[in-house]
Amino acid sequence: MNGDPMSSDSAHFTVLQRALHWLMAIGILAMLFIGVGMVSTVAPKYLPLVETHKTLGIAILVLALFRLAVRFIYGSPPLPASMPAPMKLAAHLSHYGLYALMIGMPLIGWAMLSAGAYPVVLYGGIRLPAILPQSDQLHALLWQAHVYLAFAFFALILMHLAAGLFHALIRRDGVFESMSPLPAGTRPETTPAE
Ligand code: HEM
Ligand code: HEM
Repeated sequence: MNGDPMSSDSAHFTVLQRALHWLMAIGILAMLFIGVGMVSTVAPKYLPLVETHKTLGIAILVLALFRLAVRFIYGSPPLPASMPAPMKLAAHLSHYGLYALMIGMPLIGWAMLSAGAYPVVLYGGIRLPAILPQSDQLHALLWQAHVYLAFAFFALILMHLAAGLFHALIRRDGVFESMSPLPAGTRPETTPAE
């Protein structure tokens, strides 16, 4: 794999895809903790936390849409032939779930505030338009969806993390290296499981 952000080989995601993956992983984990932290505080830091939550959440939405487009253009390395079919299916389904939540969660947050007739104001005073008309029922429904899907997101991320470590440490089949954050040359070589 060379340093060209657009170049790919059959075994690795492109540099751009790997950079987006790890940048967004940090951003999304931060969002989950900021979300839980802000709803459990009545201190004055509530307001800056909500502003950070909204701004980072919308940034994740934009990055996720960009990442999806990049994924359509550059594809992904094939999963190893040694992987059993049900494991491949689980990998694909969980990746669909992660993309759906990366895009769905910010949209639900935005829609929930719109339905509650709250202004959606980001850093720098950037004000986003409402994407739903005011409705108390919708506001309550979307608020519940935002909370429960956040827990589902966290659970899916933990499973994904466990799967990534299973590939890296036990199967050693190159799947983890395909998304490795380390530049080429500094990555440990993998020895395929027999
Ligand atoms: C990846 C994106 C996002 C994630 C992972 C996320 C996660 C969370 C979490 C974990 C909570 C706390 C739920 C609870 O325990 O009650 C929360 C609350 C909330 N989120 Fe998000 N969120 C995201 C995007 C957004 C966006 C884009 C907005 C608005 C534009 C937003 C607005 C809110 C609001 C208003 C609350 C509730 C605050 C309160 O009840 O005091 N979220 N979010
Ligand atoms: C918030 C956290 C994370 C999210 C939302 C996330 C999301 C994703 C998504 C959507 C893919 C599929 C890539 C594609 O086909 O376009 C992927 C692949 C991958 N992720 Fe994550 N990821 C997260 C954290 C992690 C962590 C912590 C690890 C480390 C163990 C990891 C390891 C991998 C690996 C090895 C792949 C490649 C799998 C393959 O070849 O299909 N991810 N991730």
